Amino acid sequence: MTKRSPIEIRPLSPAVGAEVVGLDLSQPIDGESFGRLVQAFTDHCLLVFPAQQLEPAAQWSFGCLWGEPLVVPYLAPHAVTGFPGILRVPNMGKAETLTENWHFDSAFFEEPPPIAILAAQELPPIGGDTMWSNMYRAYEALSPAMQLLLGQVRAAFTGTRVDDGERRDVVTMHPVVRIHPVTGKRALAIGRIESVPHLEGMTPDESRPIIEFLYRHVARPEFVHRHHWRRGDVVMWDNRCLLHYAVHDYGDAPRLLHRMTVLGAPCT
Ligand SMILES: [Fe+2]
Repeated sequence: MTKRSPIEIRPLSPAVGAEVVGLDLSQPIDGESFGRLVQAFTDHCLLVFPAQQLEPAAQWSFGCLWGEPLVVPYLAPHAVTGFPGILRVPNMGKAETLTENWHFDSAFFEEPPPIAILAAQELPPIGGDTMWSNMYRAYEALSPAMQLLLGQVRAAFTGTRVDDGERRDVVTMHPVVRIHPVTGKRALAIGRIESVPHLEGMTPDESRPIIEFLYRHVARPEFVHRHHWRRGDVVMWDNRCLLHYAVHDYGDAPRLLHRMTVLGAPCT
């Protein structure tokens, strides 16, 4: 009789997220367990692995199971020593924080990266939660007429790139409704008006109320899981069907996460 994979998948909310119990990410993962992780990731879009205390080498090995790691040369000063694909995410202070709003990462890339993996290193005594919202649900909750309209529209996503030391403002057009390449399901893709200033082919006056409506819509509590970080947590999520929001309510308290970004479809 083959030994059953020992891991347990516990959903965290109806909309998004599951906790994976019984797995040590610093050890090799057998094929059956990895297959269950892939299925859970597809089903829940966000996986939480508690009590891992993951070292950079182990985070790197785990991330490589899911695809090719993203290494951005201009972010090298922020990388963990010896691991150019693992970035340090410290407390920058509330005023400098760019992620305290609903967004998907690297939205101004031609192909925004699909998977992010965060490993908690140091946490404030209280606060610093991260929220994720399920964009399949957000799309499905729209009226058929709004789905039809948005299905034909692209939005302008703005950001800043650094090429050869030069900072450059970039605008990239993406569909407001994207089709997930693995599940084939439709998901909303939007951000706040400051980073998504208009919809293609519409005037600013026409675009603005739609973008602002969608930005309120994606934050509906029934789409959201709010994660309270615990010591040693590792969290991975699908950037193609979730938005996230980093709550900065912890003042000057130290907080450090290690972040790895993975390109490409999950391995099977
Ligand atoms: Fe982010």
